This record gives sequence, structure tokens and C-alpha cells, in this order.
Amino acid sequence: MNLILLGAPGAGKGTQAEVICKKLNIPAVSTGNIIREALKSGTEMGKKAKAYMEAGELVPDEVVIGIVKDRLAESDCQNGFVLDGFPRTIPQAEALDEMGVRIDKVLEIHVPDEKIVTRMSGRRVCGSCGASYHLQYNPPKVEGKCDNCGGALVQRTDDHPDTVKARLKEYHEKTEPLKSYYEKQGKLVVVEGQEEVADTTRLTLAAIEA
Ligand code: AP5
Repeated sequence: MNLILLGAPGAGKGTQAEVICKKLNIPAVSTGNIIREALKSGTEMGKKAKAYMEAGELVPDEVVIGIVKDRLAESDCQNGFVLDGFPRTIPQAEALDEMGVRIDKVLEIHVPDEKIVTRMSGRRVCGSCGASYHLQYNPPKVEGKCDNCGGALVQRTDDHPDTVKARLKEYHEKTEPLKSYYEKQGKLVVVEGQEEVADTTRLTLAAIEA
């Protein structure tokens, strides 16, 4: 199955991508994670993306489209994939269509803006393996330490409230129009992003099994 996860920053796309990948045994292609890795390793692409990311703005389409094209051509994506955070603009969606990539369903994890800022301020990520936690909704077993690898948990630099507001603005202006783009194709399914991760997970699994 080829899936897209849409949703505001912090809606829970990464969390649900992980659930779907385990369930269907397919890889997640997260453009945010790929860009963060490039930034860490100091590649040319990472250097280009840094300023945009830190300001809460979208990285230029041509950079992200190239990344996704290369990633989807890899062998592990041939039996299905979850696109987490791509496409995020109409030109990115059009590029995906032009690549001839078949999409089965587009799940929008819906969370109102007022809840997003609280979620983001409580998110902590593992500095080593990238696993994501929430101080209130999904705490690690040992405070400040990753359950998977024991790495130190840190706050993402773009999770500060002012940057979150900029990311939400970008989302409403550039990404939200994708909902009607995929609704017209009959592929959009809305999943309410509930307070409890387990409730959202139940709705996500029901949506992919329907
Ligand atoms: P990216 O990394 O994709 O960030 P994002 O879309 O802003 O989404 P997040 O990763 O912040 O959140 P999420 O929806 O995955 O939520 P999560 O599951 O972590 O992109 C970062 C930047 O990269 C962009 O700003 C841009 O610059 C660039 N970029 C990336 N893709 C691009 C593209 N295609 N084009 C251009 N630029 C691009 O959950 C959030 C928190 O809430 C966690 O703490 C989690 O534990 C908790 N939580 C999750 N679900 C629930 C729930 N149901 N109830 C309560 N808490 C929950």
C-alpha cells in the first residue's frame, strides 16, 4: 500500500507513520528526518535547508522533490511506503503524480492549532536515534533517556513556540490546499488526532483497513 500522511506540524504524522510501518511492514519516508540527517552530517543539501528549517519555513520544492524521487526508487519502497511530510505543496503533489507514483490513500491527521503548541512544547526527541516522545502523552520509561537506545532526549530547535507559529502559518498557506487536491482524487481520509496516542492509532489502523 502506498500512503501519504498529511497534517499540521506536530499533529502526530511521525508517530502514526511508525505504527503503519510496523503493521504493514513497509518503510516510512520522512522528508523532515532526511533533511535533519543531512543537516547533522553537513552535506550540501543540509546546508541549503538549514536556514529554512530553523525559520520554520518550507525547504524549496526542487530540493525536496529530488530527495523523494531518489528515495522512492530504492528497493525497499517497491512493496509500499508511507510518505510522512511529503508532499507539502501543490507543486510537490504534482511532481509525485508526474513521477507516475500511485497513491492509494491520503490520511490527514487532524488536530486544531490551539492543541499543536502544547504538543510541540512537550515533545522530546532522542539525539542519537531520533525516536520521539512527549513529556505528558508519551513519556519515556526513564526521564530524559530514550527507551530504545538510552540516548539523551532533547527539544528540537524548531519546536520553540515562535517557530511553531511560523510552521503553522506555512501549513495553512501551502499544505492545507492539498486536502482538496486529494479529496478530488477520492483519496482523502480524515483521522481525528485525539489526546491519547492509542486512540489516534486505533483510528489510523481502521482507516488503512477500510
Ligand atoms: P517535519 O519533521 O516533517 O515536521 P512537521 O511536519 O512540522 O511535523 P513534526 O515532525 O513536527 O510532527 P508530526 O506530525 O510528525 O508529529 P509527532 O508524531 O512527532 O519537517 C520539519 C521541517 O523540514 C519543515 O518545517 C520544513 O522546513 C522541512 N520539510 C520537511 N518536509 C518538507 C517538504 N515536503 N517540503 C518542504 N520542506 C519540508 O508528534 C508530535 C508530538 O505529539 C510528539 O511529542 C508525540 O509524542 C505527541 N503526540 C503524537 N500523537 C499524539 C496524540 N494523539 N495525542 C497526544 N500527543 C501526541
